[in-house]
Amino acid sequence: MKALVYQGPGQKDWVEKEKPAIEKPTDVIVKITKTTICGTDLHILKGDVPAVTPGRTLGHEGVGVVEAVGDAVANFKPGDAVLISCVTSCGKCANCKRSLYAHCEDGGWILGHLIDGTQAEYVRIPHGDNSLYPIPEGADEEALVMLSDIMPTGFEIGVQYGHVKPGDTIAIVGAGPVGMSVLLTSQFYSPGRIVMIDMDPARLALARQFGATDTIQVGTEDAVAKIMEMTDGRGVDVAIEAVGVPATFDTCQKIVSAGGNIANVGVHGTPVELHIEELWIKNINISMGLVNTNTTPMLLKTLGSGKVDPSKLVTHRFKLDEMMDAYEVFGNAAREKAMKVILSA
Ligand SMILES: NC(=O)c1ccc[n+]([C@@H]2O[C@H](COP(=O)([O-])OP(=O)(O)OC[C@H]3O[C@@H](n4cnc5c(N)ncnc54)[C@H](O)[C@@H]3O)[C@@H](O)[C@H]2O)c1
Ligand SMILES: [Zn+2]
Ligand SMILES: [Zn+2]
Repeated sequence: MKALVYQGPGQKDWVEKEKPAIEKPTDVIVKITKTTICGTDLHILKGDVPAVTPGRTLGHEGVGVVEAVGDAVANFKPGDAVLISCVTSCGKCANCKRSLYAHCEDGGWILGHLIDGTQAEYVRIPHGDNSLYPIPEGADEEALVMLSDIMPTGFEIGVQYGHVKPGDTIAIVGAGPVGMSVLLTSQFYSPGRIVMIDMDPARLALARQFGATDTIQVGTEDAVAKIMEMTDGRGVDVAIEAVGVPATFDTCQKIVSAGGNIANVGVHGTPVELHIEELWIKNINISMGLVNTNTTPMLLKTLGSGKVDPSKLVTHRFKLDEMMDAYEVFGNAAREKAMKVILSA
């Protein structure tokens, strides 16, 4: 089979590789029908995630059809259409028992990280019963791919951890696929005002189409001053960081109102300066975390009922074997006006 393999920092290739086989009775082999590329894959390619070793197949998102199941798999059989979660979980360990799947003792984020991932013709999914979801009849497969990672990430770590409430004024810093997922899922709770902050005018225009009431273009506008002006000096009820650099965390510290929440979603590679001397007196909550994907069943229902349509995040489409071209487009997202790319077998 073919797979997108990490060959060390800055190097990747679409190569012939051995098809995965059942290794444990709880494994499921899935034939990929649709997959995508995540900003995290670009981080890996830069060499930012040293746990990923040369030879690893990348990718942690996708949908497919079950090819084979181990003897202990009860929920799936060959031919079933499935959604692959970016987080693998056994469902039995102490952390899984409290829905902290990201910290499963025999799983977590391992796909395309510690084991071979989904940017391939076939993938082996450990603990298939708990790490795959049946695809509802007639569901939009492109929309479903957004449920592998970015939608639960935006919803759990941005919206739920940030305690977004009806009427709230919220700010989302970063209008990438994750920030856009926060934007879409925050609307379940009817915030009064949603301010999107980014430097890319094309992404901000898209954010307005998806429900942002206000946008601020960093670089030409002072985000902190503008937020304070918009809120009569109060600040926002929820400041959501969806970039992963010190500057954007700092913006969140400066724009959060008394009694507010800072929900950090971005993956940070360097320390940030925490202004506890200013925040302590404002009764602020600060949250952060790795997506658990415990809300995937709920998000599947909202998709089925038409309450949310993540397929609108898809801007580019490729055949699976055009993987290298898809990386070229996604790796130059601003130039190509790309949000999410879909690769179809
Ligand atoms: N917590 C989790 O479980 C989890 C899961 C998935 C992704 N992530 C992280 O979420 C973050 C966002 O992911 P993504 O795929 O949307 O990334 P992305 O790189 O596609 O988007 C980031 C956006 O931030 C904007 N930006 C950059 N610098 C900025 C600045 N100084 N001010 C305002 N905007 C700025 C960029 O223009 C871009 O639109 C990443 O750090 C990613 O690793 C976290
Ligand atoms: Zn991802
Ligand atoms: Zn577990």
